[in-house]
Amino acid sequence: MTNEVTVDFEPLGRRARVVPGTTLLEAARQAGVGLNGVCGGAGTCGTCRVRVIAGQVTPSTEAEGDVVAEGLRLACQTRVLSDVRVDVPPASITAPQRAQIEGRERPVELDPAVHAFDVALAPPNLADLRADATRLRDALYQQSPPGRGGQGGVRFDHAALCRFPALLRENDWRVRVVVRDGEVIAVSPSDTSPLGLAVDIGTTKLAAYLVDLESGETLVAAGAMNPQIAYGEDVMTRIAYAMEGETQAQELQRVLAGGLDDLARKLCAQVGRESAEIVEAVLVGNTCMHHLVLGLPVAQLGLAPYVPTLAYSYNLKARELGLRFAPGANVHLLPNIAGFVGADHVAMLLATRMHEAREITVGLDIGTNTEISLAVGGPVLSAAEGRLLSCSCASGPAFE
Ligand code: FES
Repeated sequence: MTNEVTVDFEPLGRRARVVPGTTLLEAARQAGVGLNGVCGGAGTCGTCRVRVIAGQVTPSTEAEGDVVAEGLRLACQTRVLSDVRVDVPPASITAPQRAQIEGRERPVELDPAVHAFDVALAPPNLADLRADATRLRDALYQQSPPGRGGQGGVRFDHAALCRFPALLRENDWRVRVVVRDGEVIAVSPSDTSPLGLAVDIGTTKLAAYLVDLESGETLVAAGAMNPQIAYGEDVMTRIAYAMEGETQAQELQRVLAGGLDDLARKLCAQVGRESAEIVEAVLVGNTCMHHLVLGLPVAQLGLAPYVPTLAYSYNLKARELGLRFAPGANVHLLPNIAGFVGADHVAMLLATRMHEAREITVGLDIGTNTEISLAVGGPVLSAAEGRLLSCSCASGPAFE
């Protein structure tokens, strides 16, 4: 657009092109600058301080009193009027924090939702004119057990099907196909094992684990900041931002998916693999993060009685979220319990097996938001009196 202006962020070397009237905080987000914005742009936290070096901006507001005296401006209160150069002090940048990714591992029986099959297909000739997909269906029918892709045909994910003919011919008609619930979701040239990704989407941090789905081994783990932090530090601020409009809600989904994509790519690179080899991902998070990654409305999470849009577990294609995994890769989200007791707490209950507890047991997941569960009356699924009670509270202010 011709009426756009340029905003340069120094010393970071980042640039945004925005329409006049855009705030410096919005421009920073667009440029990928991790500028602090604890209050989400309300002008109350004072964490988004910057120095305007050159160019025209709107006059200071009342909220900026002390800040202006220091020669600074609040990025969320300052709108650009021309090309602008801005200095970002180190204190205003989101500090990378260490994510806790280590923990005790418990033995788990390996039972992945995906199964890989190596197939060697006979090339077509004038006496055998079967289609490529029919050829694969027949081969799987011969070698796969019931319910694992054979017995009555195989469905194809469309994106996987589009790649199938070329991969067959490039690899001398020997390929590895990954089947999930009777559907071919990925085809690869080699006999490398399919990859799974497990991610805990925290309000502040992401913790991700890359898993070999054939051996069950966790190959590598890493943490990263949740990139939504630039839109406010707590859940309520993000809900308020998403409620500003469809564009803002989509922006929150897009930056989070981008953060997950980056993290997946880095994890895969550490073990010499590519994120296009990830065929299954499991995501957990508090109910707000769960809704934001799915692009679900979050307005009702900010209003009593805080009812989620979705409480049961959910599957969808990774590509629908903007994740660049295997063509037909699946994303599974664990169920939420309530508006402020989310899928991450369900994961904690499963990992600690609290639902099997015979004694009265308390489990706490301490984070920006803390969830607590109490197990009473014996194992939930087998004892008549067995119950799990859960509640949550905001704990960020207590840490501060
Ligand atoms: Fe809080 Fe600007 S004062 S984001």
